Amino acid sequence: MKILIIDDEIEIIEILSTLIESEVECEILKAESGKEAVSILDKHDDIDLILSDYNMPEGNGALVFEHNKKKGNIPFIFVSGGYLEDYNDVQNFYEANDKNAYIHKPIDFEELIKQVDQALGPKDDERNNSGYSHVHLGLLSKYSYVSEEIFLKISDDKFIKIKNSGDSSTEEIKKYVEKGNLKFYMNKTDFVSFMERAISEQSRKLLTSPAEVSEVEICGETLEILQDSLIQLGLTTDQLLLINTTIETCLDILGSEPALKEQLKVFLKGKGYFVSHSLTAAHICFLLANKLGMGQDSIVNKLLYSALLHDITLPESELCQIYDIEDPVFLGLDLNSRKRIKSHAADCVAILESSDKIPGDVLTIIKEHHELPNGMGFPRGSTETNIFGLSLIFMAALRMADHIFHHGHGPKSLDMLLCKLT
Ligand SMILES: [Fe+2]
Ligand SMILES: [Fe+2]
Repeated sequence: MKILIIDDEIEIIEILSTLIESEVECEILKAESGKEAVSILDKHDDIDLILSDYNMPEGNGALVFEHNKKKGNIPFIFVSGGYLEDYNDVQNFYEANDKNAYIHKPIDFEELIKQVDQALGPKDDERNNSGYSHVHLGLLSKYSYVSEEIFLKISDDKFIKIKNSGDSSTEEIKKYVEKGNLKFYMNKTDFVSFMERAISEQSRKLLTSPAEVSEVEICGETLEILQDSLIQLGLTTDQLLLINTTIETCLDILGSEPALKEQLKVFLKGKGYFVSHSLTAAHICFLLANKLGMGQDSIVNKLLYSALLHDITLPESELCQIYDIEDPVFLGLDLNSRKRIKSHAADCVAILESSDKIPGDVLTIIKEHHELPNGMGFPRGSTETNIFGLSLIFMAALRMADHIFHHGHGPKSLDMLLCKLT
């Protein structure tokens, strides 16, 4: 079987091919742009499946999809950080072939294999039943694998161990690489934990690294464009770098805390409004704190934690964007959703309280993030006089993030935003 994988991020190609090869015996063809993929499709008529990113500089995923539709119309899986609904140049995606599928980044191993299985229907003898999986050298060189055992393949069913678990030296591996051996294997258990780590670190890099933010699709807008509009609001590029590093540090600290691992996963796997408004609010908090002369690390960190975590108990985008409980949209929801909206701030605080890494002020900010200075907020209807100062900044940032989400980032929208604020 032959699979074509297309992504301008070589590491994603390595992750996808490593995951697929661990389950199915197949040949992988790679393309780093839509244009390159089109020329590969023209040269090969024996490809069984295409996995493609959407957002790529040299010809996007829609170009490959349309070309394939006219040519072989082989099963096509989008693996993307954005949302199919936002891709206006992709028409009749599911109608074109009932095996077509969409997978959202960060990649979920089981979901990926399920979709690949559905598209390819591999026979028993095309499965990898050896108990060992090949791990791409590119991934081994990027991610630490101290606790994993490493094997070489001698024959179809014979593997020899060349590194023990707990051995942190990579000398042995280097020696084999120098001899020209480029294929290293892990047993299935080690493989799964290593790949989970690689995927989560990779997706975290995507969310926070300024060099790669252009790859992150947030509701059809790239974070980079969003950041451009924040620069128009007064954020400097140095601050942008600083804020991305700070978000990364916050995510690292949260990831190292066992009690918060699940919450962090919710964030990294979240989508749409949920992730978009959290990240936008983080940027705006930084901007506001600096404008107000409160740019000290300790204050900025508290605001960033709040931005990343405040809706973690309400990750459904249609629910976490409700700010007004008098709104007909809220009143039209079922009882359980209304209850969850009203209690999500307190629910979140209850989870975070177990960690000693989260400053008390963050709990206060999160508890109050739906209160309003005029007393019309929820759940307590607190007023300006008893709302914590940092909570007021955070609320403003949330409203601005919401505005940017709904009205875009164009100059008109930003003018409107500035009018509202002054
Ligand atoms: Fe929110
Ligand atoms: Fe909320």
